[in-house]
Amino acid sequence: MQRYTIPAIVLHWLIALLIVAAFVLGLVMTDIPGLTPAKLRYVSWHKWLGVTVLGLAVLRLLWRLGHRPPALPASTPAWQQGAAHGLHALLYVLIFAVPLSGYAFSLAAGVKVVYLGVFELPVLFGPDPALKPVLRAVHYWLDMSLAAAVALHLAAALKHQFVDRDGLLARMLPFAPTKENP
Ligand code: HEM
Repeated sequence: MQRYTIPAIVLHWLIALLIVAAFVLGLVMTDIPGLTPAKLRYVSWHKWLGVTVLGLAVLRLLWRLGHRPPALPASTPAWQQGAAHGLHALLYVLIFAVPLSGYAFSLAAGVKVVYLGVFELPVLFGPDPALKPVLRAVHYWLDMSLAAAVALHLAAALKHQFVDRDGLLARMLPFAPTKENP
C-alpha cells in the first residue's frame, strides 16, 4: 500500500495538532468571565493558532492540487470510498471556513488581528454591531461542525486500524511499516 508523501504527512499532523489546541483554547477562553489579562492573552494565542492553521491550509491545498493521494484499497466498498472523499472534502472546506469566520468575527467586533503580536492582518471591514453576533454564531457552529467531522474522521481511522486491520493508518505515518514494506 502506497504511503502519503512526507509534506502531506507533516501538514496533516501539524494542522491536526493546531486545530485541537485552538479548539480547546477557544472553549477555555470563552468560559472566563469578564476581560481579564489572562483571557486577553488566551484570545491572542487562539487567533495566532487559528491564523497558522489558515496559512498551513493554503499550503496543504496547493500541495494537494499538485499531488494525488494514494488510492484506497480496491476492496473498499463504493459507498465507503464516497463517504471518505466527501468527509475529506468537508474537512478541507472547514479548515478554511473556521479560521476565516473567526477572523471576520474579530473585524466585526472592531478588534484588529495582529499575528504573533507583530504582523497586522488587513482590516477588510470596520466594526459592525449588527454583523458581530451573526459572525460569532457562525464561528461557533463551524467550530462544532469541524469537531464533529474530526470525530468521524478519527472513528473511521480507528475502525480501519483495530476492526478491519487493513494498515490504512500507516499510510499517514512517516515511519510505521505498511503492508507492502513491513
Ligand atoms: C482552527 C482554527 C480555529 C478553531 C478550531 C477555533 C475554535 C474556536 C472555539 C471552539 C471557540 C469557542 C466558541 C464558543 O464556545 O463560543 C472560538 C471562539 C473564538 N474564536 Fe476561534 N477558532 C479558530 C480560529 C480563529 C481565528 C483565526 C480567529 C481570529 C483571527 C478566531 C477568533 C475567535 C474569537 C474572537 C472567539 C471568541 C468568540 C466569542 O467571544 O464568543 N478563531 N474559536
